[in-house]
Amino acid sequence: MRNNKNIFRANRTIEFYIPNPNLIPRFNIDYNIFDLISSFGAAFGGKSDLSKLEEIFGKRNFFFTASGRSALYVILKSLNLPPKSKIGVPLFSCTSIFDAIIKAGHVPTFIDICLDNFTINPDDLNKKTKNLSAIIVIHTFGRPADMDIIKNIAKDIPVIEDCAHSLLSEYKGKLTGTIGDLSFFSFRSRKYISAGEGGMILLNNSSYSESFNREISNLKSYSMLNDIKHSLYTYATSFLYHKPWYGLFAFPIGSLIRNTSNKKIITNFQLNSIRRSDRTVFLKKLESFKQNMELQRNNSNVLLERLSNTSLKLPFENENTKCNYYLFPILCKDKTERDDMCTYLQKAGIDSAKLWSLTPEFAMRFYNYKGDCPESEKCANRILTIPNYYSLNDGNLYHIIYHVTKAAEELT
Ligand SMILES: Cc1ncc(COP(=O)(O)O)c(C=O)c1O
Repeated sequence: MRNNKNIFRANRTIEFYIPNPNLIPRFNIDYNIFDLISSFGAAFGGKSDLSKLEEIFGKRNFFFTASGRSALYVILKSLNLPPKSKIGVPLFSCTSIFDAIIKAGHVPTFIDICLDNFTINPDDLNKKTKNLSAIIVIHTFGRPADMDIIKNIAKDIPVIEDCAHSLLSEYKGKLTGTIGDLSFFSFRSRKYISAGEGGMILLNNSSYSESFNREISNLKSYSMLNDIKHSLYTYATSFLYHKPWYGLFAFPIGSLIRNTSNKKIITNFQLNSIRRSDRTVFLKKLESFKQNMELQRNNSNVLLERLSNTSLKLPFENENTKCNYYLFPILCKDKTERDDMCTYLQKAGIDSAKLWSLTPEFAMRFYNYKGDCPESEKCANRILTIPNYYSLNDGNLYHIIYHVTKAAEELT
């Protein structure tokens, strides 16, 4: 066990973490030297082969943007809504989505989630739906939301699927992203497919085609130099996100920065089309994605089985759905137990994430959230995601199981 030193300064605790070369990173940023080489090739030209995408999603047009958030911006603009329209969005989400809504000239209306699968709560949506001009549904952590019920409530209101987490997840035999009117995906490094950055849009309702093409044609292109710099940056980030560098440098430094600044960074993202390098790496990684997803599902099933006797609330797969298990969320009893569990695991060499735990607070301070999403607030206080990714070896997986079990016994 390693000890952290706490230094109290002006009511704020600054924690210094003792470097640990064996720390298991919380996310899998998987961008290797072959990805870097492919990205360089793409930066200098060459055509992308979309056949794998067509094999997965069927023959259709695929549109690419610089990020998931810019994809959402394009989608919202192409709906041609009056300024300041209310857009329904789950409160338990990434604040970049709220930024995209605001940048498109609209106002987020926060909808609560269901605590058992982290996705939009149909009852709350039903209560708030009459004022909404569009609804964003997030398949959070890869868990498909109940699209039939949501579409039924939405009626004529356009439904946008946020598939940033849910590549290849399925709802009633259909891939997420093919069910709502429009959908988007994200390829940012921390996401499942780790292609650097980028977004993809699927247009499932042709009535938006004209305005959609207009918005897509407004996107600017990145320069070749930007492409190359970005690929190098992504490679360096991925390198630092692996043992031993993660525990030696990236985690201690990252934690220090996070602890000394709890400011919300309002993201002013660029409205560009995707970099050629990111698109090429995404398409290359798609070739092995299904295989990796099955490995990650296997790891998740091992965690589910081995942690089933603990007091922790574990995720489950809803009937008629297939979850890609992008992340493995556990719910603790309360905030104290969650925070203690996070510290306990970190000392045992396991990094975990309190994902979106600050979103309700930021939403109240910056996005006019009025406190009407109690389940989302509970979730933000109680959630911890633990490593489950495909590149974990058996030793790592059993180390995680052993220490999560022990933490649950000692802390609950
Ligand atoms: C659920 C969700 N949607 C959208 C986004 C935005 O995607 P991007 O980072 O590619 O802009 C994120 C996070 O980054 C996300 O977690």
